[in-house]
Amino acid sequence: MVSKTNSFLTLAELRQSDRKFDATRPIAEEALQRIVSAGRLAPSACNGQPWHFVVVTEKQLCREVGKGLNYLGMNKFCLNAVAYIVIVKESANLTSTIGAKWKNKDFSSIDIGIAASYLTLAAASEKIGSCIIGWFNENKIKELLKIPSNKRIELVIALGYSLENNRSKKRKAYNSVISFNKYD
Ligand SMILES: Cc1cc2nc3c(=O)[nH]c(=O)nc-3n(C[C@H](O)[C@H](O)[C@H](O)COP(=O)(O)O)c2cc1C
Repeated sequence: MVSKTNSFLTLAELRQSDRKFDATRPIAEEALQRIVSAGRLAPSACNGQPWHFVVVTEKQLCREVGKGLNYLGMNKFCLNAVAYIVIVKESANLTSTIGAKWKNKDFSSIDIGIAASYLTLAAASEKIGSCIIGWFNENKIKELLKIPSNKRIELVIALGYSLENNRSKKRKAYNSVISFNKYD
């Protein structure tokens, strides 16, 4: 058994996909600034930083973005989020783009996934609930936030104070996904 005395491991346990937010409790702007600052510090291939974070806090706009995330019967809970971080994929730098082509790897999407981890862990560290959303009406959200139509929204982070208890994680067994020194 792995010791859980490490504070990062405790934070990783604490972060969960929250799907029940307190719609009456706003998040202070300074807390949102700290969360996006953590996202900005995330590592990326060749330090390309292929992202732009749009933080949505205005009440009416949040309502509309929530509707855009509540898509084909999924993600209705987002209607109660009080803020969103919309992650727009930007062009990576030349080295990362060449590297991605050469190695046939989508470094930009990987980078944005890592940024999403930073954002959600930073939210957890502020005791703010979050959920990463990959399923949404992209065109509607682009229109609402004036994001150029040729850009992609990779992920949206829904935020709010959670009304859920901390769940224990459902994960594959340690030995089935981890091996030391050889693939086993
Ligand atoms: C790329 C990505 C996209 C996701 N999209 C959604 C989504 O659209 N709706 C949702 O409710 N959860 C979404 N999730 C959350 C996952 O369902 C969740 O992380 C997973 O079930 C593990 O649960 P946990 O986050 O509570 O540990 C997404 C997670 C990731 C990483």
